[in-house]
Amino acid sequence: MARLWIIGPGAVGRTLGRLLHTRGAFEIAGIAARTPESAQAGRAFIGGGAVMDLEAFTPSPGDAVMLSVRDEAIGDVAARLAEVVDPVGLVIFHCSGARDLEPLAPLRGAALAALHPVKAFADPAREVATFEGVVCTVQGDAAALEVLAPAVTAIGGEPVVLAAGVDRRLYHAGAVFASNYLTTLVQAALDAHAAAGIGQADSLRILSPILRDALASILERGPVQALTGPIARGDAVTVAAQAEGLAAHDPALSELYLELGRRTLDLSRRKSPDLDLTALAALLGRPPGA
Ligand SMILES: NC(=O)c1ccc[n+]([C@@H]2O[C@H](COP(=O)([O-])OP(=O)(O)OC[C@H]3O[C@@H](n4cnc5c(N)ncnc54)[C@H](OP(=O)(O)O)[C@@H]3O)[C@@H](O)[C@H]2O)c1
Repeated sequence: MARLWIIGPGAVGRTLGRLLHTRGAFEIAGIAARTPESAQAGRAFIGGGAVMDLEAFTPSPGDAVMLSVRDEAIGDVAARLAEVVDPVGLVIFHCSGARDLEPLAPLRGAALAALHPVKAFADPAREVATFEGVVCTVQGDAAALEVLAPAVTAIGGEPVVLAAGVDRRLYHAGAVFASNYLTTLVQAALDAHAAAGIGQADSLRILSPILRDALASILERGPVQALTGPIARGDAVTVAAQAEGLAAHDPALSELYLELGRRTLDLSRRKSPDLDLTALAALLGRPPGA
């Protein structure tokens, strides 16, 4: 069985390490962290491998090395590893969604890749239990993808290959919109309700079913067809009143409402090309085609 060497048994390193170990995708060889205590704790969770400094790693051709350290440490760790291993024949990958393969440049000669599990990792025990069906995007050298894609499948994940030309800054920005900014959007809804005098518990009760239903509809039919509401109906009077009401309590929230309204107007034009959106366009300051 191919061996895996792990640098960084943190939230992601522990989760992937344990899954890859228990599902037999790799035999875990060495585990390195910044401190032996942290590496030891990682080893206890992963269930295999030997604790050592990365300077003591002795990978052989066919082995894989996972750099599951924080994004800003990948370059330094890659440079340190390049001092002590011959990269030829190895598969070496990091787990960042935002970084490209440049930080791994000192290890050229190996098959290099990024393997990004599209999941929020907080508590490794929970993440191991909920990993089934998680998409892991893989991008990099073909020889690395040949090893990593089946390993993702073995741990219950779904590998999706990103073409070499995909700009990872934009790829990750998409994930930020879909996950982090969705959180911010829900908070904006709660803030509007709070300004109206509706407490958070009631607000969440009111919004939960429509939030779930909207998400299901977007995923089923796509955003254009799923769009409903005042902008999709061309109702400028309602939009003006809502922006005004918000501005009286929280001008920044009103600005956000109007900015999202501008993007929503574009969706509305695509959904209903024959709908008269002139009044809304004037209100939002967005002429047709702008
Ligand atoms: N967290 C997420 O939700 C998530 C999701 C997808 C992808 N990712 C990506 O996964 C990677 C790891 O993130 P994480 O959240 O798992 O980070 P983390 O929990 O902070 O773990 C980082 C690990 O790297 C070790 N480390 C840091 N600097 C090191 C160095 N110079 N030498 C050796 N070990 C070092 C740390 O060791 P010590 O414990 O000794 O400090 C720790 O074990 C990042 O690229 C991140 O972008 C994260």
